[in-house]
Amino acid sequence: MLPQLYLEELHTQDFRNLREQILKFHPKLTVIQGNNGQGKTNILEAIFTLLRGKSFRKNTDFAQLLSMSADRPKFLLQGRPNVMGKAHAITQEWEMRVDQKVYKRISFDGESQAKLSKFPCIMVQPQSAYMFFNYAQERREWLDHAIEQQNLVYGKILKKFEKLKYFKSQLLKKGNPLRYDNLNQPELLSQINFLNLELARVSKLITLHRCEFLEKINDKVIHNFQKLFDQSLILNLQLSSLFVGKTETDIVQMYSEKWQDEWKRQKILIGPHLDDLCIQSRLGSFENNASMGQQKMAFLSLQFALLSHYVNIFQGMSPILLLDDISSELDSERWKNLIEYLRSYPIQMMMTTARANGEILPIDESSYSLITVNNGRLESNQKISEVDLT
Ligand SMILES: Nc1ncnc2c1ncn2[C@@H]1O[C@H](COP(=O)(O)OP(=O)(O)OP(=O)(O)O)[C@@H](O)[C@H]1O
Ligand SMILES: [Mg+2]
Repeated sequence: MLPQLYLEELHTQDFRNLREQILKFHPKLTVIQGNNGQGKTNILEAIFTLLRGKSFRKNTDFAQLLSMSADRPKFLLQGRPNVMGKAHAITQEWEMRVDQKVYKRISFDGESQAKLSKFPCIMVQPQSAYMFFNYAQERREWLDHAIEQQNLVYGKILKKFEKLKYFKSQLLKKGNPLRYDNLNQPELLSQINFLNLELARVSKLITLHRCEFLEKINDKVIHNFQKLFDQSLILNLQLSSLFVGKTETDIVQMYSEKWQDEWKRQKILIGPHLDDLCIQSRLGSFENNASMGQQKMAFLSLQFALLSHYVNIFQGMSPILLLDDISSELDSERWKNLIEYLRSYPIQMMMTTARANGEILPIDESSYSLITVNNGRLESNQKISEVDLT
């Protein structure tokens, strides 16, 4: 059975170090192989950008995506996603014009579109585990992004919170921090109190969504970690937040109790922007006590929990999974477990590896296709027709 969504091919022009070429993908599994620095991750980045409209890397601007050897400030990505047996065509052309602004021309099935129709796509990079376990902000963003992907309203709630937070911090900066005790600026204080009411409402919603989501994926994360990596460790995901279990009235109260400190320090001292996603086990907190390997495994377990969650939610639109350099992280037993596990999902996967040919996959050569990339150019791209699609 073919996945309900898969990318048949990708045409790149002036995208990072990739030569102008057409890449053909296997509906289930394509392995992108090559030495370091040849363009494997760039291929995943091109796929992600085609399907999601932006890079998976943070703060990536046009200049980074444009090939250094391009003779004009313009790159092109074209792809053929197959949705429920029907092939479609996406074209994206990004161009920087004389006004230094980047214009994107997008078309779907030949018709130009104001906005890209996005397709679900998950990028998994084990090296992101380092950032994830070292910065609470990374964990929070991971959590928010995961919730946002399946709940558009949540994205709006977060934006609203950001706005309120911005207004409140502007007000706090206007006040004189030394004169908080005798309320010499009562109008500022009443504006802050008013914002606190709205902040409490939004904070409560954010906390509820985060807790609910973690509860939903917790069992899956435990299962993944045990099945793939370590039978003996049971993980537990928790939201570390002052607002868990609190009512909106409690939260209003908590915000208003903080006003003197906030006024003095001219910054917001409590709120969901300071929450954390904690991963624990009998070893204590994973951030502090787990080995690098364990942290990577926990990170992958989280990512794969997300995958199964999406597969359930987007019936008919299961995501395309991009796995960057995972094989180098695992011993052969775990690698085998992981491949078997991932192949049980009816999804398309693209994975990169710098390993040599023979040791890539513990599966039959006929059930995947292999792309070899060398200095941005494909050396071989096994034709799909030659591959057994079962
Ligand atoms: N805008 C660009 N224009 C041209 N080349 C670029 C651009 N950005 C990056 N590169 C080149 O792309 C190459 C890196 O590609 P990529 O990250 O895909 O390598 P990789 O095959 O994934 O390597 P590794 O195995 O080390 O992860 C580098 O040689 C880099 O100089
Ligand atoms: Mg790479």
